[in-house]
Amino acid sequence: MNPEQRPGIAGIGAAVPDLVITNKDLEEIVDTSDEWIVSRTGIRERRILPKGEDPIGLAIRAARQALDQAGLSPQDLDFVITATNLPEMPIPGSSPFLCEGLKVGKDLPFFDLIAGCTGFVYGLTVAEGLIQAGRHENVLVVGLEALSRFTDWQDRSTCVLFGDGAGAAVVRPMPDGRGILASCLSGDSSQWHLLRMEGGGIKYPASPQTLERRMHFLKMEGGGVFKSAVLMMERTTQKALKEAGLTKEDVDWVVPHQANYRILKAFADRFGIPMEKIVVNLDRYGNTSTASIPIALVEAQADGRIRPGDVVVLNAFGAGVTYGAVVLRW
Ligand code: ACO
Repeated sequence: MNPEQRPGIAGIGAAVPDLVITNKDLEEIVDTSDEWIVSRTGIRERRILPKGEDPIGLAIRAARQALDQAGLSPQDLDFVITATNLPEMPIPGSSPFLCEGLKVGKDLPFFDLIAGCTGFVYGLTVAEGLIQAGRHENVLVVGLEALSRFTDWQDRSTCVLFGDGAGAAVVRPMPDGRGILASCLSGDSSQWHLLRMEGGGIKYPASPQTLERRMHFLKMEGGGVFKSAVLMMERTTQKALKEAGLTKEDVDWVVPHQANYRILKAFADRFGIPMEKIVVNLDRYGNTSTASIPIALVEAQADGRIRPGDVVVLNAFGAGVTYGAVVLRW
């Protein structure tokens, strides 16, 4: 890589299913109300992948859009990273299916990355490292989620939160001082219990008992997630900005993982930044986990909020627990 250049996002893309499920629709499924969901989370509707539809199709659409914007074809890619909470198949994951759909070139390396909702931020940072090491040039990072497939539709405390979708970024060396200025990845393994799906792994292989105990659905300790998320997002953002030699006054936009409006508001208050600088679209998509940041980025770029040269912070927290932030000059 030319030493004057930094790895950065050369193209982004996103895709969501057409099916909209509103809070009113959820009132028919569980004991909840539009008022409760909006006041506790800010979510009004979410997109759900209909039964029988394959989430890989969303990832392919998002990736093609990102490649088009970067002026590249799938054959130009030299690495693919798919961040997801639950892959297409436990073995071999999601990436091979994405690569097949994109018709990438021969011998392309790929892998799935599991870091909860922080997966996209982790993926960008891994891509940055691969490019800085001089071994790769055009890395595709995808966030892909079909959370509705392992959401417990009998559990009102979780099923109202999530949505399906995919987002993608092409990471490559960028000119004119643009690109990733700093990134900071963190985790706190002692809090692994906050978000979990216990069944189907080595500890609790699928069995009639795991099915009966509903262990193949996502479980969440909501209050614990809330408190940790606010503290972690602030801590990691401060650290990344310091590493970039910037302060909060330099930040044009924060594009956070879209979990919950109250979490984002509490983060903004703690960090000391107005909500007007925080890109929020969770009211229309819910929490799409690894896909939420690229979906929000695509919207904010398309409507002219984020422009070339802006300082943009991407920050997230998620199962593990993991957290992290990336500071970019767009
Ligand atoms: N509708 C109506 N009532 C509900 C619902 C619902 N959908 N869900 C829970 N309740 C009830 C509870 O049963 C409880 O009733 P009770 O007092 O009779 O026991 C009451 O509402 C209050 O429940 P709390 O859990 O105290 O509600 P709280 O105000 O804390 O909000 C929430 C819950 C929204 C889940 C909050 O804790 C939160 O946002 N946590 C973070 C969640 C999150 O962001 N998760 C994902 C992040 S990680 C990732 O992205 C994978």
